[in-house]
Amino acid sequence: MKDFFPKPDSPHIRRTSAAWQHPVYTESQMNAITIAHRSARTTSDRVALTLVRILRFGLDLATGYKHDKAVALSKKDPKFANQKYGMSERKYMIRNIFLESVAGVPGMVAGMCRHLRSMRLMRRDNGWMETLLEESYNERMHLLIFLKMAEPGLFMRVMVMAAQGVFFNAFFLGYLMSPKTAHRFVGYLEEEATLTYTREIADMDAGKLPKWVGMRAPDIAIDYYKMEEGKQTMRDVLLHIRADEAKHREVNHTLANLDQNEDPNPFVSTFTNPEKPHPGKGIEHLKPTGWEREDCI
Ligand SMILES: [Fe+2]
Ligand SMILES: [Fe+2]
Repeated sequence: MKDFFPKPDSPHIRRTSAAWQHPVYTESQMNAITIAHRSARTTSDRVALTLVRILRFGLDLATGYKHDKAVALSKKDPKFANQKYGMSERKYMIRNIFLESVAGVPGMVAGMCRHLRSMRLMRRDNGWMETLLEESYNERMHLLIFLKMAEPGLFMRVMVMAAQGVFFNAFFLGYLMSPKTAHRFVGYLEEEATLTYTREIADMDAGKLPKWVGMRAPDIAIDYYKMEEGKQTMRDVLLHIRADEAKHREVNHTLANLDQNEDPNPFVSTFTNPEKPHPGKGIEHLKPTGWEREDCI
């Protein structure tokens, strides 16, 4: 681990804290995260799912991640399979950094679109914007955490810049055309993110990523997640990040179920019956496939 971000020269400032405080996740909540898939019910859902599948295929190709083939081959020839398809710490880190550098785009674009729309049409936003911007902030924190463990080279930096240039504009146009499809798309993307981190944790537990075992979490992660003493390892970081991805999955699938013009954001609302489980900031009542409109609005 190295000091990737040099301290700024600011003698008057002691500390700059995070604008958005991260909710505290308990260990049992994080262990309860499961992979999930919301079935595509409408044409808009199917468009979103197809786009995510195409992107996943492209990314797997680019980062040498071939889970299905690896599983098939490992049944026949485990040693060769590991040589050919095994994910090392390095390969995972490349994938994580690239993914996270892109993952922070949709929330910012969606938040921006709703901000501008609210002013343009002189309408209330009903509380969506903050959740969307907070999501992009959270994704950027994931990136900063990983950057404490690896320093991308020139090729990676160029790839990240190119990807951002294309993805920002594509998502922006997509959001203008159909915000519902755009949120569904992010919901499906986050299904994939939850899956990838679940595999990463499983590979670590299976002893395939020995360099990460017992590794101390970067300070930036300990501060941001308020990680308890004794639970400040790389595995704990991955548990937190996976839980965040599952949260984004829930938020975006839910937002895709809502009326984009009228409905308030249930994740920042107070409910008439607070006893009944409802959407909120934390992950205590996490719904992997999102809340249906009838159940929360
Ligand atoms: Fe992320
Ligand atoms: Fe995410």
